[in-house]
Amino acid sequence: MSWYSIHKRDLPWRKKENQNFYRIWISEVMLQQTQVKTVIPYYKKFLKKWPNLESFNKASLNEILQQWQGLGYYQRAKNLFLAKEYLKNNKLFLDPTSLKKIPGIGDYISCSIPAILNDYSCGVVDGNIKRVIKRSFDIDENRKDFNKLVGKIAVELTPKENNRDYCQSLMDLANIICKAKLPECSLCPIKDECRSFVNKIEFKKIKSRKKKYKYGVSFIVKFQEEFLIEQNKKKLLQGLYTFPMTDLLEKKKNQSKKNLFKSLIENWKVEKNLLFDHKDLCFVEHTFSHFYLKLLIVKIELSSKMKFKDLMWTKEKKFDVKPKSILVKKVRERI
Ligand code: ADE
Repeated sequence: MSWYSIHKRDLPWRKKENQNFYRIWISEVMLQQTQVKTVIPYYKKFLKKWPNLESFNKASLNEILQQWQGLGYYQRAKNLFLAKEYLKNNKLFLDPTSLKKIPGIGDYISCSIPAILNDYSCGVVDGNIKRVIKRSFDIDENRKDFNKLVGKIAVELTPKENNRDYCQSLMDLANIICKAKLPECSLCPIKDECRSFVNKIEFKKIKSRKKKYKYGVSFIVKFQEEFLIEQNKKKLLQGLYTFPMTDLLEKKKNQSKKNLFKSLIENWKVEKNLLFDHKDLCFVEHTFSHFYLKLLIVKIELSSKMKFKDLMWTKEKKFDVKPKSILVKKVRERI
């Protein structure tokens, strides 16, 4: 705590004017799967558009997705929409059990909000805090009861008072010192209590999971000035508008990329009953948090305006104001 009083990060959601349920909630949702430096501009923009729950209550899902474009894990945006609708009909109680009933609020956020807002004494454990506890107590990650044990230690360590600073001090310690890749143990305020440090455990050996490659095809299906788009139902990019796209697949062992693309295209054409010639345009590459994507862009020109079940026709100007993922924006720029 004394280390934190000197080194604490000056972050927007820690400012006095942001200490209310709505503003802490938005920050915690944004921070759950995204790094602090990426979140900051999104957080500021979000609060500028909707400074409080009253104004946010009027937001449409489309507008929320628009603000979320580029932040990833779009289910979070959808849950924010569902949560504020839930709160229109249910009174807000700031204890973990009640908070967990709100869409998108799970074990972590149901504890972090009351801890940060009201100093509520509950064990706050996110991925970063888990790492600090794991190392301090030298707990084997492969143990069956790993999560349970970390949770138990977190609860035991949580102070009766001042949990707001305590849990955020662990977050900053995890970020500034006890970093995932190259921790700076010599600067650590709790190194003498840390079993990993005392036992000289080498952190460099930590395996970074290798990202997989996935492949997919996106279709530019045109009739005169119009082209087909769809609203994405896939988990990764939920609710955002996109050009029609195949599933994103890994390559089988003996399969060539050429064959994989060919079968993706043929299957998609059969599924949509769109058996016309196509032309390969270009590739677009994109890095997601868990995989790299190589996307082939293919063009099909139609001579009549056919109707499709899940696809709709649009024009450039209309499409350009719809919410899109970074990937679809990249495709849009390339064509
Ligand atoms: N990650 C999640 N919540 C955070 C907070 N309040 N401060 C810094 N990093 C965080």
